[in-house]
Amino acid sequence: RPRLFSGMQPSASSLHLGNYAGALLQWREMQTTHDAVFCVVDLHAITVPQDPAELRERTRRTAAQYIAAGIDPEHSTLFVQSHVRAHAELAWVLNTITGFGEASRMTQFKDKSARSGTDAASVGLFTYPILQAADILLYDAAVVPVGEDQRQHIELTRDLAARFNSRFGDTLVVPEVRILKETAKIYDLQNPGSKMSKSGESPAGILWMLDDDKALTKKIKSAVTDSDGVVRYDPELKPGVSNLLSILAILSGRPVAEVETDFDGLQYGALKGAVAEAVVEEFRPIRARTLELLDDPAELDRLLAINAGRAEEIADATLRRVYDAVGFLPRG
Ligand code: TYM
Repeated sequence: RPRLFSGMQPSASSLHLGNYAGALLQWREMQTTHDAVFCVVDLHAITVPQDPAELRERTRRTAAQYIAAGIDPEHSTLFVQSHVRAHAELAWVLNTITGFGEASRMTQFKDKSARSGTDAASVGLFTYPILQAADILLYDAAVVPVGEDQRQHIELTRDLAARFNSRFGDTLVVPEVRILKETAKIYDLQNPGSKMSKSGESPAGILWMLDDDKALTKKIKSAVTDSDGVVRYDPELKPGVSNLLSILAILSGRPVAEVETDFDGLQYGALKGAVAEAVVEEFRPIRARTLELLDDPAELDRLLAINAGRAEEIADATLRRVYDAVGFLPRG
């Protein structure tokens, strides 16, 4: 079976609908046809200031949400990045073949560092995409299922793998990106011009997987729409309404065009009601299962330790190949 690798940052106390639609839904489906490796990328999370106790808690919560959303930790490999040392080690080697200009062109760094100012941003935030490349390349991943915002980082990963191979001989697998058109980008409900984001500025615009029914419903009912009053899919002119239609289409597994016709002649209230019901029904069992898993942190930690062992075996073998290829002297 082809290998798949993907991951999420434990940078908030819950995942959100964007993470669910853009990544988790693909992961759940692909784990049956692929040898799947899913990571909670805590090394990435510390590229911006983090509270240590909070980071630990968020790491467990993220892992619990993967499982609650349907990732099977017996069948797939679900582990925490910092448990496998090879990630930081391969990242170092890849740092040395990445151009400064090339790294400077990463738009996520530009966006994230714009908030604090480039001078205040950490060098870790700058080299973040190179660590991401290491994650993927360590597992010889054939495919990386992600949302649209990760496209440029996977492109860099492909460039680095190809460059390494041409300099040092065939060593690394060049991965394909997998982004599903319909789920690639979920927008903030209050600000439908920007993506729904863990670090989003508008608390009312983000649908957290661990929100209760009431909070989800309230946020959906107050989603920003427009004054034109017609339910129609038109992302350019009607971003708010189109985002709601996309969400409903994704969760009901139907094409947007078909969902759109259900609301012929109906008002935005009807659309919001239907979206609220769909999101609440989707997240309720996931939330319940997550809380159940978090009730027994020792069991969760035990699962993560077993999975880290599996991940480490694959990663260490790749790192040995890389060290050998660049000419490091084997330790006797
Ligand atoms: P992160 O933690 O920001 O997001 C996790 C996944 O969710 C997707 N996503 C979205 N999809 C649709 N609409 C949205 N509004 C939305 N917001 C987030 C992301 O595209 C992603 O698939 N750098 C990565 C983590 C990472 C990684 C990796 C991913 C580290 N190493 C290796 C893949 C492979 C990140 O910050 O994702």
